[in-house]
Amino acid sequence: MNTSEIKTRFPIFQHHPELVYLDSAATSLKPQTVIDAEREYLEEYSTNVGRGLYPLAEKATEKFEAVREKVARHIKAAGSQEIIFTSSTTGSINLAADLLNHTVNNGDNLIITAMEHHSNFLPWQELVRQKNADLRVAPLTQTGELDLGILQNLVDARTKIVAFTAVSNVLGTINPVQEIVTIIKNINPHTLILVDAAQATGSIPLDVTRWNADLVAFSAHKMFGPTGVGVLYGKSHLLEKLRPVTFGGNMVLDVGQASETIYKEAPTRFEAGTPNIGGVIALGAALDYIENLGPANIRGHEKNLTDHALKRLQETFRNDIRIIGPINPERHGSIISFALNGIHPHDIAHLLGEKNICIRAGHHCAAPLHRALGLDATTRISFSVYNNEDDVEKLIGVLKEIQKMFLMK
Ligand code: ALA
Repeated sequence: MNTSEIKTRFPIFQHHPELVYLDSAATSLKPQTVIDAEREYLEEYSTNVGRGLYPLAEKATEKFEAVREKVARHIKAAGSQEIIFTSSTTGSINLAADLLNHTVNNGDNLIITAMEHHSNFLPWQELVRQKNADLRVAPLTQTGELDLGILQNLVDARTKIVAFTAVSNVLGTINPVQEIVTIIKNINPHTLILVDAAQATGSIPLDVTRWNADLVAFSAHKMFGPTGVGVLYGKSHLLEKLRPVTFGGNMVLDVGQASETIYKEAPTRFEAGTPNIGGVIALGAALDYIENLGPANIRGHEKNLTDHALKRLQETFRNDIRIIGPINPERHGSIISFALNGIHPHDIAHLLGEKNICIRAGHHCAAPLHRALGLDATTRISFSVYNNEDDVEKLIGVLKEIQKMFLMK
């Protein structure tokens, strides 16, 4: 992958030529084509969708719905009727929890894992609290992978929902989604499974049909698209049975006062109100960008760089660094979290920031995971298509300076 050429497509590097951006797990940078798509909508045809009968509104509707088709093709869904647009991954998971609320009863159980982001933890915690159900948390192995044996033992006849991440936003662990879904469905075919794919899209090729999960949530902004747009994929036969939970314009066929209100088909009945039209159209451009580079090429590039960075961090800092997450590169996405002996991650992030190196420090919205690891916080780096080995060397160079400075104190 030619990272120098790739960088020319991301205008942020023209504004900040020294930028070393190692925080794509928080949000990816945006290529010019994505910016142009949103700007064109705003400048040239910023009309509403699904309502207007004049050409500009028809154009907006066509462009918007074309992205629904594109998303479906990209993640290998059965069709665009399985794609609900939301505001974010968080919005998608909260919507899923609301849609499935009625399926959970007193004494049922839900399963999540110890590596979940708060957004795939709190909606389920709140649901079990409301329903007096049980929340079971699948533990991890020493190397930060799911213990599938224990996970399997947690599933029983009263397991209504299992929600887990495809890629951990802290450990970088790539979970074997298809295998996990098969294990769960073999024990209880009625259990509904949601996969949080926020950190997978834009980094690893997706195939939701092969995964066989019932629901999959992700955001546009981690796959080169804008913030404010999310997707909830749901199997058609599941969505068809679910009642809407948000009510308003554009999701009804007829509203009766005395008679019955008739809702539109899925997915429209789950999208009340005017959506983020420009954002969805820009997501279409982001998908084109990924398709042009090739999802497998992106994964290959990020895997090589992650392997390289893991080795360089290990050989440079030896016993002074604790890298958390899988050792097996096949199981490691483009995220590395670590702790450097005696230096708080916030100090590291601040000092790296002064040298134009952007990383994230803290618990990364995964406090239960950090508690399980016995750490208050970690330092996290994450890669994308615009990163290369020079970025890793710059990071290591400044980390060495920081270490020296703290050792002298
Ligand atoms: N979920 C994003 C992260 O892990 C914001 O940084």
